[in-house]
Order: sequence, then C-alpha cells, then structure tokens
Amino acid sequence: MILKLLEPIPKIIVNKDDIMSIPEKLQQAIEQQLNNIGLSDILEARKELTERYRSHQKQHLMTNDQHRMAYIAARMPATYSVNHRIFEEIKSRTKSLTVNSFLDLGAGPGTAMWAAADVFPDLNQVTLIEKDVQLAEIGKRLTVSSENNVLLGAKWQLGDLEQQLNLPKSDLVVLSYSVGELSEKVIPSLIEKCWVAANQLLVVIEPGTPQGFERIRAIRRQLIDLSGNMVAPCPHAMTCPMTGNDWCHFSERIERTSLHRRIKEGTLGHEDEKYSYVVFSKMAVELPESRVLRHPMRKTGHVNLVLCKAEGIIKQETVSKKNRELYRQARKVEWGSPFPDESIEIELIQTQKKIY
Ligand SMILES: C[S@@+](CC[C@H](N)C(=O)[O-])C[C@H]1O[C@@H](n2cnc3c(N)ncnc32)[C@H](O)[C@@H]1O
Repeated sequence: MILKLLEPIPKIIVNKDDIMSIPEKLQQAIEQQLNNIGLSDILEARKELTERYRSHQKQHLMTNDQHRMAYIAARMPATYSVNHRIFEEIKSRTKSLTVNSFLDLGAGPGTAMWAAADVFPDLNQVTLIEKDVQLAEIGKRLTVSSENNVLLGAKWQLGDLEQQLNLPKSDLVVLSYSVGELSEKVIPSLIEKCWVAANQLLVVIEPGTPQGFERIRAIRRQLIDLSGNMVAPCPHAMTCPMTGNDWCHFSERIERTSLHRRIKEGTLGHEDEKYSYVVFSKMAVELPESRVLRHPMRKTGHVNLVLCKAEGIIKQETVSKKNRELYRQARKVEWGSPFPDESIEIELIQTQKKIY
C-alpha cells in the first residue's frame, strides 16, 4: 500500500498551445446575442438542457430561445473545437485533398461550418440542414459580423433528417452531435444517403459516452460494408477490438471565457470535451501504425501507452528510453494521437538539421 502511494503520480502534460478557443468574431457574436437576456435565465436554461441531454431525451431538447442561447454559449465552443480538431486531422492525413463544398446535417447554429471555414481555405459552398428554424436564425445572425463570405453565403435549409431529403453532393459531409437525436431506425438509411452525397469525406461525431460510441461503432461497421476507406480514428478497418464496458473516446481541451465560466458555474479556465468520432473517405488513405487510446503514463525512463494497433487489437506497450527515437515521440504524444506520429518525426528531423 505504502509503495503504491509512493509511486509517482502519472503526469498529464498540458501544453497551453493544445487548448482550443473559438474565433474572436464568433465569441463576440455569441456575446452580442446574449446581451438582452439575464444571466440567471441562461443559467437556468443551461441546467435544463444539461438534464435533458443527460436523460438521453431525443425530442424537445431546445424548446425556447433561452435554451438556444444556452446552447450557443455553453455547448457551441466545445462542439466547434472538436470539429476543428477533426478537420485539422483530416487535412494532415489527406494532403492532396481540396474541400470546396460542405454539407452539415443537424447543423444547429452552424458550428461545424465555422470550423470548416477556418481549416479549409478553398471552401466556397456550404449547405446547412436544420429542423429548428429559430436555431438556424440565431446561426445566421452569428455570421453577420464575420466578414467571411463563406459563412455569409451559406445556404440554410429547413429540413428534417428523419424524412426524405435530397442531399446536395458535397466534398465533405458532417453529422456533428446530431445522430443521437434521431430515431435509431432512420440512422442506417441516413448514413447511406450521406455516403452517396459525400464526394470525398463523411465525418460523424457523437458525445464521448458509451451510448455515443455505440452509435459510432455501428456507423463504422456500416461504412466499412459500403466500401468506405477509414481515415480516423482507427488504424485499421477490422472489427472494433473495444470490448466489455469500455468505449473509444477522445478529449479536447477548451478554453473557458469568463462568460462560459459563469454559465457553466465552473472555476477552471478550461473544460475537457469528450467525443467519439469516425471519418471515412472515398479515396484510400494511409493509416498510422496505431492510435493512443488513453492519457500516456509518463514515468521515469519509460512511457506506458494503450494503443489501438493496425493489426486490429488493443495493446498496452511500454516504450523505454533504450529505444531513443520512439521514446522521444512517446514523451510527446497525447491521448488521441497517432503513434508513431509523423508530425513529431518531422519536428525531430528539423531539430536535428538545426543541430548539425
Ligand atoms: C446537439 S445539436 C448539434 C448542433 C451542431 N451540429 C453542433 O455540433 O454544435 C443537434 C442538432 O440536431 C438538430 N436535429 C435533431 N433532430 C433533427 C432532425 N430530425 N432533422 C434535422 N435536424 C435535427 C437539432 O435541432 C440540433 O440543432
């Protein structure tokens, strides 16, 4: 027991650069929308919304404008950051890809579009489908002072994903935190339609809960059956090796503004958003050797990693100091990183060049 207590506490290295924040223009636009509403009303609405999401309610989540305002203030920064992180990964894994057109289903206030516009410089055509007309109106208002033609020119379409819809062909199709609000029986046919609509890529993101992951796992299976090419997060397209009560999810650290802190009644300057996701492509994409599934345990002289491996298994590996190159990488990788991480390799090569 004493020995256990004396063991060094695993270090979670938090790099300030790794904390995401939303664009200033979006932050200002959100604050402007909240100007005429009392903080206590938003707080109350945020608590109601949290309760409704926690009880896995599918219908009647945002039933008034206070709920919608609570969503843009409390949830939009987190869902923006997760979309941004995933789009960055897509960009780094599919270097020859150009994203001109973007389709967002269950777009809410247009969160994913803001992230896509920031990551993909060639984006010029955006279609957003949303069933809540008031939320779409708030989303349009958020873009007004953006001075960004992509956001200003976005086509907002009122539509119900549970009904027959014609989806415009688009390079990148996204379902961000919307599948969980749909009746289970419509999901496979919607995914099939999304896959047909995707010229290049389909991204599905869900909360990083066991339920969110199960939906992602079923969608992953379906897209593999539809001959989709895995992009992320899995390093293989074999049967998912996650078993028992465990679930595959990742975490994004988000900066909390003072408004965000007040609405979430939090004291920390950041929050961690847990998410599960899957990205499939029409083109074959080179996959990493493995993906880090937990916070790395950095000890003296070695690092313990839990990895999902290209062979379709989950394995705990210890990378010791003796393996110099790999050890340097293992000291730097984070939960969710590919391993080995090509971007870290590039950094190392550049450092070496400077030395010699
Ligand atoms: C949790 S919010 C996510 C919003 C946005 N995608 C984001 O990531 O911030 C889910 C959104 O899906 C929308 N939604 C739920 N069911 C829908 C349906 N049947 N048709 C269209 N939109 C739907 C909701 O109105 C809501 O805006």
